Amino acid sequence: MIRTLEWTNESLRILDQTLLPLEERYLDLTTLDQVIEAIRSLRVRGAPAIGVSAAYGMVIAARSIASSDVTIFLKELRELANRLIAARPTAVNLEWAVESIMIRLEERPPEKTEAIVSGILKQAMAIHEDDRQRCDVMADHGVQIIPDKAGILTHCNTGYLATAGIGTALGVIFRAHEAGKVSMVYADETRPLLQGARLTAWECAKMSVPHTLICDSMAAVLMRQGKVDLVIVGADRIAADGSAANKIGTYGVAVQAHHHNVPFYIAAPLSTFDLNLVSGEAIPIEERNQDEVRRIMNTCQIGPEETPCWNPAFDVTPPHLISGIITEAGILKPPYAHSIAEAFDV
Ligand code: MRU
Repeated sequence: MIRTLEWTNESLRILDQTLLPLEERYLDLTTLDQVIEAIRSLRVRGAPAIGVSAAYGMVIAARSIASSDVTIFLKELRELANRLIAARPTAVNLEWAVESIMIRLEERPPEKTEAIVSGILKQAMAIHEDDRQRCDVMADHGVQIIPDKAGILTHCNTGYLATAGIGTALGVIFRAHEAGKVSMVYADETRPLLQGARLTAWECAKMSVPHTLICDSMAAVLMRQGKVDLVIVGADRIAADGSAANKIGTYGVAVQAHHHNVPFYIAAPLSTFDLNLVSGEAIPIEERNQDEVRRIMNTCQIGPEETPCWNPAFDVTPPHLISGIITEAGILKPPYAHSIAEAFDV
């Protein structure tokens, strides 16, 4: 069990993921600016963990408003909510958590501002617990598709550090390990910010799961050698047609898996789906600072200072490359427009 984030009543306490695996340091976030900075700089990251952090960020935001007039209070809260939503654009869980709090308040405003603050805290705790449970159920569903003695490749980090529970893709892998099904987990290092090397490898080591760290460029040959039975990754936003945005490099892994006839699965809770988007083209892709490409972890420079770099943080894998989407509602199969609509009962 890894403690990624918790509510202390005075603060949102997070494990600073930018320092892993070298240092395990917890930070107490007490202002909205600190929460936004922590999300932007990936001290807390992973779509579901960002959503839960944002929900507690709303408690911190509400506590900072002085007015006792409900209309003024809600107007100020809406401004702070919009700032929070803008912290990172791709993971829909952030917007989902903040909007589910705001919509409830805006539709049925309580009579007193104290009730607004206590209501947000209650809802944030419910979002937190809800994500923990979704992960658990997802892991139970996902374990069914893992063959015995499986070699599994994953990209980025999708475990305890990325959620409020056991994880999405890595949660399935951990559950499969408990069932004695995992022979080897291959963790892509995941340039530029190395979530695979720094975080997935760290989690696998903590959980005593057999794992091998590879550079991103090594995945294809590993598949050609027959070492990968399946790929499982997470997602940051899934459109109504099943197109899935995830960490940059995921699309490349999906293309390689397709070429080598290796099943490619996504594991994500229903809170990661955005049914307002009919296809993946409309998913907003975060572009981050060029220095993340020019340097390794903001320190060691590896490219000339004057060389322009391109740094999209996510890419979109089209539905025809996805063998199935593991959710808490079961494993969705193609055609996704149909199975997703069914899962949401629309
Ligand atoms: O930029 P990050 O580290 O927040 O990106 C995280 C990912 O891409 C994960 O794969 C995704 O959020 C799913 S996490 C359960």
